[in-house]
Amino acid sequence: KILILDFGSQYTQLIARRIRESNVYSEIHSHEFPIQKIKEEKPQGIILSGGPMSVYDSDSPKIDKEIFELGVPILGICYGLQLLTINNNGMVEPAEKREYGKAKISITQRDDLFKNIPDESIVWMSHGDYVTKLPENFIVTSKSENSPICSISNSSKKFYGVQFHPEVAHTEFGKQIIDNFIFNICNCKPDWTTINFIDSSIEEIKNKVGNNKVILALSGGVDSSVAAVLLHKAVKENLICIHVDHGMMRKNESADIIKMFKDNYDLNVIHIDASELFLSKLKGVIDPEQKRKIIGNTFIEIFENEARKFHDVEYLVQGTLYPDVIESVSVKGKSVTIKTHHNVGGLPEKMNLKLIEPFRELFKDEVRAIGRELGLPEIFIKRHPFPGPGLAVRVLGEITKERLDILRDVDEIFMNELIDKNIYDKIWQAFSVLLPIQTVGVMGDNRTYENVIALRAVTSTDGMTADWFRFDYEFLENVSNKIIRMVRGVNRVVYDISSKPPATIEWE
Ligand code: XMP
Repeated sequence: KILILDFGSQYTQLIARRIRESNVYSEIHSHEFPIQKIKEEKPQGIILSGGPMSVYDSDSPKIDKEIFELGVPILGICYGLQLLTINNNGMVEPAEKREYGKAKISITQRDDLFKNIPDESIVWMSHGDYVTKLPENFIVTSKSENSPICSISNSSKKFYGVQFHPEVAHTEFGKQIIDNFIFNICNCKPDWTTINFIDSSIEEIKNKVGNNKVILALSGGVDSSVAAVLLHKAVKENLICIHVDHGMMRKNESADIIKMFKDNYDLNVIHIDASELFLSKLKGVIDPEQKRKIIGNTFIEIFENEARKFHDVEYLVQGTLYPDVIESVSVKGKSVTIKTHHNVGGLPEKMNLKLIEPFRELFKDEVRAIGRELGLPEIFIKRHPFPGPGLAVRVLGEITKERLDILRDVDEIFMNELIDKNIYDKIWQAFSVLLPIQTVGVMGDNRTYENVIALRAVTSTDGMTADWFRFDYEFLENVSNKIIRMVRGVNRVVYDISSKPPATIEWE
């Protein structure tokens, strides 16, 4: 096992991710994790993360010197390198200018950390202090144009330090460097798998929750679905899942979700059909932000009411993923609200519940892998993202039951075509939008004056940026014909060819 001590870098979780990608177990602990506990963990290696402070700031996080006496290999990254330096009689000084971004390093002396790394490569730097005096018995292993000391090592003690960040994708051979550390230097075996993640999460949740009740808002999306199955394994009948149907779901969606969980997992799912209430609150509303706020608030209201019926609930499960964590930290307070996202965000504060976030350190693909391991049907695992407010933001203009039904029929045709033609998996997200205008058409000998549907399909890796998907014309023609032929009230189909930015993925 590799122990990562966190000194506050925004990249710490990425170190864990890189190590997990190589099937080695790693654990992140605060830099305050006591030395006694570190010994008990018996790590095969320790990584000291980066951090935002300077080692000479009076309140900067320190390290117990005893860590260097344990006989365990240590890799210091950025701030970690500086700790390694000042604790071994070296010196660190502030630079005139912060070095930030890509830099080219050249290897000056090759050690085990740089095995199979080319003499020159690109790395990602982000630091304000430099090593100016080498710690005792260390050598310099690489340099860059801006700094004569980019990495150092003491091979006999197995201490290594790098000024750059091997854990970020911009560092060309970063993964190889981390692999060199965990395999060649620490002798770890690649035996950590999703099964182990599941087992240890279950253990951890059991210890935390005891006999208390846990509540979960089950939307049917990948994250909440996988969380529900995992939690059920850990706390069994103490898990209460609530599925709030806001009436903005796709065709048969709520029924399918509930059936899947009841049939396959014996899960206790409470189905709240609140579609009438949501529809009445949304009556006459056309402003997108207002729609989003009404749905978010009503959702919380209903969920809270239901939860209150169980008196002894202590915990709320949230399917928070690692990108949610970084994003909320790095842009806190600075960003403009483009769209008010609806998730169960307001719940924990309002309800005074403790949180369980089993996927806080994971990325979506990792959650999918866990879902597969837990036996969730592939069709659930591979689902495109679906926004919390559902079809409400895809029925532009006023939302009525009739208009929702039109969109549901259209969407079903579009999705089935994507699946039939094996295109669904190539797309990050695809959906249809009902526009708030009518256009003239001709059907048989008659004039029609009916709705327009816009189809949207995008590729993306994280939803932050996106490009429109290049369908072939035949596919588009076929879907368009089917929709107009089969869905009453639609006489025109258009395809959205805007990328994000400057457009967004959803239309509202
Ligand atoms: P936009 O439209 O902002 O969407 O480009 C980016 C991704 O987020 C999804 N989305 C939401 N997800 N609650 C969610 O959980 C929401 O309120 C929400 N609004 C948009 C959108 O479908 C896309 O995947």
